[in-house]
Amino acid sequence: MARSGGWGAGSRSDAASQALQRHPTYEFLEARAKRRIPRFAWDFVHGGTGADYGIDVNRRALDGVEIVPRYGVMGKAATETEIFGRRYSAPIGISPVGMDALAWPGSSRCLARAARDENIPYITGTLADSALEEVAEIAGPNAWLQLYGFPRDDHRVTFDMIARAEAAGMSAIVATLDAPVRAKRPRDLANRLVVPFRTRPSTVWQVATSPAWVRALMKAGMPGFGSIARYVDGEPTLDRVASFVQKELIGSFSWDEVSRMRRAFSRAVVVKGVLHPDDAERAVSAGVDAIMVSNHGGRQSDAAPAPIDVLPGIVDRVAGRAKILFDSGIRSGLDAARAIALGADAVFCGRAFLWGLGAAGDEGGAFVARMLREELAVAMAQSGAWTVPELREATIRHVGRFDFPARAAQSVPLAAQ
Ligand SMILES: Cc1cc2nc3c(=O)[nH]c(=O)nc-3n(C[C@H](O)[C@H](O)[C@H](O)COP(=O)(O)O)c2cc1C
Repeated sequence: MARSGGWGAGSRSDAASQALQRHPTYEFLEARAKRRIPRFAWDFVHGGTGADYGIDVNRRALDGVEIVPRYGVMGKAATETEIFGRRYSAPIGISPVGMDALAWPGSSRCLARAARDENIPYITGTLADSALEEVAEIAGPNAWLQLYGFPRDDHRVTFDMIARAEAAGMSAIVATLDAPVRAKRPRDLANRLVVPFRTRPSTVWQVATSPAWVRALMKAGMPGFGSIARYVDGEPTLDRVASFVQKELIGSFSWDEVSRMRRAFSRAVVVKGVLHPDDAERAVSAGVDAIMVSNHGGRQSDAAPAPIDVLPGIVDRVAGRAKILFDSGIRSGLDAARAIALGADAVFCGRAFLWGLGAAGDEGGAFVARMLREELAVAMAQSGAWTVPELREATIRHVGRFDFPARAAQSVPLAAQ
């Protein structure tokens, strides 16, 4: 059962809660997290690929969606939403994040608890700190599993993980498509956040000057790759597992592999990282239940359009045949309202939840869920929408909308025109 609360809540009196009251938006949380976690960890979470253009593009594009307020019909905004037959407290979930414990030691367990307590979905990552079984035990059916490909031995690792997700009762698997190669992330390279990990004097200094993070580390233990460790020969030391991941992981799947995944899992199958309506169409043909429109938070291609700008084209093409999920750049409940008004069924956030943990520790994930939910309720009320479906009827101006060529015209060879 989701607790009510957020910036106006008076029910929690602990230090973390009070700190959060003073940091009532994404921007405040990010600034506080920056002061409390080591610089290399902040760079890792904050950074994108290349020159970070994708991050700016995501922000500007969301700001370019205007919702015309409507008044005169009174009500109370109800954010509850159904996804894959389950009712959640809001159309807002937690995106998968690999190496999440860098941002906050013990992050996966904290986020699983936030998902359970606030009744939102949590997509735990293949490369997350905790094993998927541990996450599922905490979050129950609110836990979903993100997958990357490990092509060796006919995808033995991927399909074993799907069987584990099935056995653990997870509600969905999410196949990430948008990382066919490792993206160049300059800040991580400059910080030598590469395999094999080697501690540098600057790393020691950054850790030593982050006492809250160190306390969390002492409580949670060293970061790891909980779901992957069992596939490594010998003692699964951090270096060994990281080398295994470096060598074996390919972060994408072919459409045939998506079809195989569909057959291997009895509950919902999602593909993440779709930006083109033709790819959405292919995914629907492969039998998926949902498309997640995403550019990986600007971390894969600096030339990719903002997902919000391609969302309407994808909605036009596949809505009604698959759920449309959305992430990349969501910083507030208003951003969530923008994506939903343009046709998304639900939005997910990566960095917002990590900054919540970095800013306030273990309770930060739940706070972010409440903050976003309450902001969404306010945005709904300002739009005259008292339910999530009503929000889709809002009057919108969206200057950045990406116009895809019509499908029929595309399939006609130029010579024949
Ligand atoms: C530090 C970090 C690690 C990430 N790791 C993964 C991952 O392992 N798998 C994946 O599919 N997406 C990963 N993502 C992308 C997120 O799932 C999500 O698409 C993105 O964070 C959304 O953008 P936002 O951070 O602006 O909300 C990662 C994002 C961040 C910030």
